[in-house]
Amino acid sequence: MLDIVVLAAGKGTRMKSSLPKVLHPVAGIPLLQHVINTARELPQGRFHLVVGHGADEVKAAIQCEGANWVLQAQQLGTGHAVLQALPALQPDARVLILYGDVPLISLATITALLQQVGPGSLGLLTVNLANPTGYGRIVRDSSGAVCAIVEQKDASAAQLQISEVNTGVMAVNQADLRRWLPQLHSDNAQQEYYLTDIIAMAGAEGVTVNTVQPAAEFEVLGVNNRQQQAELERIYQRQLAERLLVDGVTLLDPARFDCRGTLQAGSDVVIDVNCVFEGEVILGNNVHIGPNCVIRDTTLGDHTVVNANSVLDGVIAGNACDIGPFARLRPGTVLADKAKIGNFVETKKSVIGAGSKVNHLSYIGDTTVGKSANIGAGTITCNYDGVNKFRTEIGDGAFIGSNSSLIAPVTIGAGATVGAGSAISRSVEDNELAVARGKQRNIQNWQKPVKQS
Ligand code: UD1
Ligand code: MG
Repeated sequence: MLDIVVLAAGKGTRMKSSLPKVLHPVAGIPLLQHVINTARELPQGRFHLVVGHGADEVKAAIQCEGANWVLQAQQLGTGHAVLQALPALQPDARVLILYGDVPLISLATITALLQQVGPGSLGLLTVNLANPTGYGRIVRDSSGAVCAIVEQKDASAAQLQISEVNTGVMAVNQADLRRWLPQLHSDNAQQEYYLTDIIAMAGAEGVTVNTVQPAAEFEVLGVNNRQQQAELERIYQRQLAERLLVDGVTLLDPARFDCRGTLQAGSDVVIDVNCVFEGEVILGNNVHIGPNCVIRDTTLGDHTVVNANSVLDGVIAGNACDIGPFARLRPGTVLADKAKIGNFVETKKSVIGAGSKVNHLSYIGDTTVGKSANIGAGTITCNYDGVNKFRTEIGDGAFIGSNSSLIAPVTIGAGATVGAGSAISRSVEDNELAVARGKQRNIQNWQKPVKQS
């Protein structure tokens, strides 16, 4: 049996924000959600989420199915926080204590820690820091056994020299917590109930404190201010970038790569600098993403190219499509193989058939375009009458002349041609030519106006 207690009641004053600290994101995901997502991988863990500041907001924003939400109305310390969860902990369970503001802890480290708790022992995650200032120090006796944790504000000058610190993460038997937590007192520099005081109690009772160190220091770094948040963001992105490089993706500059979600990439994918990936993005083989693109919830087929400065959201593109530069593809855009969307083109809820081209300066919304159609520069589908949206259908091989307005609902038949500058409000049959613009008049000997005195 495993109970997982995540402490997330603190205010996070140093974030200087109205948002509760644990809801601040790293890689687009709230800090607390990172912790939950990692710990969720543990088999049969039951979550107890201790919240206080902004409790309702935290509950609404965080997904943790079946979690027991524990309210710590007043933040009287980490020991007090765990005490609030105590009644709900399962008898004889192992209890894993995590912090909601330490987002990058790994499953491997947690698993190693859990192996240290057993009959007569507990597991404590510690780390040696070059600068241990601010942390609780791990005090060991002459035999090297951990006998206490002393908080920075309560430490002696000698104890302040200790570089091994408490990360806050520990694994303890429920039965031990049940004995120890009610004995905590707040007779210390911060007048808080310190969870860390249970370590001395363990020592006194002969319960062994087994320490584990994380594989990487960043796993135990907490977020208390925006600087630390930014640091962890970079570490997280660097890790992701490294993983993609190892998997065979070319990142022209791994330091200028951001993924706030999941990115799955085939072989020989190239990603230029300053791209942002959000949500779930899937790139086929030989996909090439130009610089400064933002791509969210999108799937791109093999050999598709996205040129510089394009924004894609909710797009499904086939193979060998060519997108951008400066294209904006909005949700519901589906491109068949070899479709081409050029510069300053916006699409929304539209299907563009195989080999069709929308090369310049167009808005294509609520539209189905067949195969091998050519949509001229400046074509606008007028899909909205101010109240309702309507669809436009454009058949295979149709040719829409530049600067045309297609006033939906309207159908342009297969092989039809629309003369440039037309405002089309009636459907055009297959292979017809439609021209709907003022007839040209040329006036000879036109008298230019003269400046009046
Ligand atoms: C704590 C540890 C310290 C350790 C450090 C690691 C104690 C007494 N000290 O100190 O040994 O080196 O973390 O970062 O445990 N929280 C609550 N309710 C409370 C108080 C805190 O939920 O009443 C939560 C906070 O939101 C935070 C976590 O517990 O997620 C740690 O609290 P914090 O106040 O940051 O503890 P530190 O003083 O940093
Ligand atoms: Mg802290």
